[in-house]
Amino acid sequence: MPRKWTEDEAAGWLTSDAATEMLDLPRRIAASIVATEGGAATVADIASGPGTFLKIFLDMFPESTGIWHDASETMRVTAQTALAQYGPRISWVFGDMYNISASGLPTGLDVVMTSRATHHLTSGELATFYAEVCQLVRPKGWIINLDHAYLGDRWDATFRSARKIVLPKRESGDADSGHRHERPAPSIADHTDALAKAGITTVQTAWQAYYTFLLLARKP
Ligand SMILES: C[S@@+](CC[C@H](N)C(=O)[O-])C[C@H]1O[C@@H](n2cnc3c(N)ncnc32)[C@H](O)[C@@H]1O
Repeated sequence: MPRKWTEDEAAGWLTSDAATEMLDLPRRIAASIVATEGGAATVADIASGPGTFLKIFLDMFPESTGIWHDASETMRVTAQTALAQYGPRISWVFGDMYNISASGLPTGLDVVMTSRATHHLTSGELATFYAEVCQLVRPKGWIINLDHAYLGDRWDATFRSARKIVLPKRESGDADSGHRHERPAPSIADHTDALAKAGITTVQTAWQAYYTFLLLARKP
């Protein structure tokens, strides 16, 4: 069932995010790989929250403009403070990641990224998500996803428990959440399958720690 976070969930998540430091490296890896293949002038961050991923791209590409996209007013207020230094380089778009085509986002973008948002989606929703994102990206543009995956019965519980030893900050709930999870996250294979359905087969996992992965995909 499509859903958005409540403002209470957004506020609670902001005060208890245990993974920001760990995710700085994969976010920089993503920007460095785009830089190595010619850079980016226009980027959008879907379900951007406080805008941390967007900030790394705006810093890596000083001439670029960015689009912050999210459904939460709490997140918008937080991101506008965190990203104040970028002024008019950022456009602010309120939208639903379950219906991206209705968000009014521009097409022809060099990069559309997202982080820690698609693990709520069913495989059908994931296919729709990538198909809609694909429409926003120019030919040869990038789709980048940093998210949590289900690792299968053999490893999933072990990796989630192990991560809590290294990132123990949360007082309750899943180490990466603070919000409800209605089903196991999609696997990395679910992501590559959904991208393939959108016609994108140039896909690489650039980083993984425990059950969190960075996927870079390039539109034909
Ligand atoms: C776990 S946070 C991740 C924030 C940010 N991408 C990061 O990694 O730091 C998930 C984000 O998804 C946003 N969100 C939840 N449901 C959404 C929806 N249906 N459409 C757009 N954004 C949504 C929340 O407001 C929140 O900012």
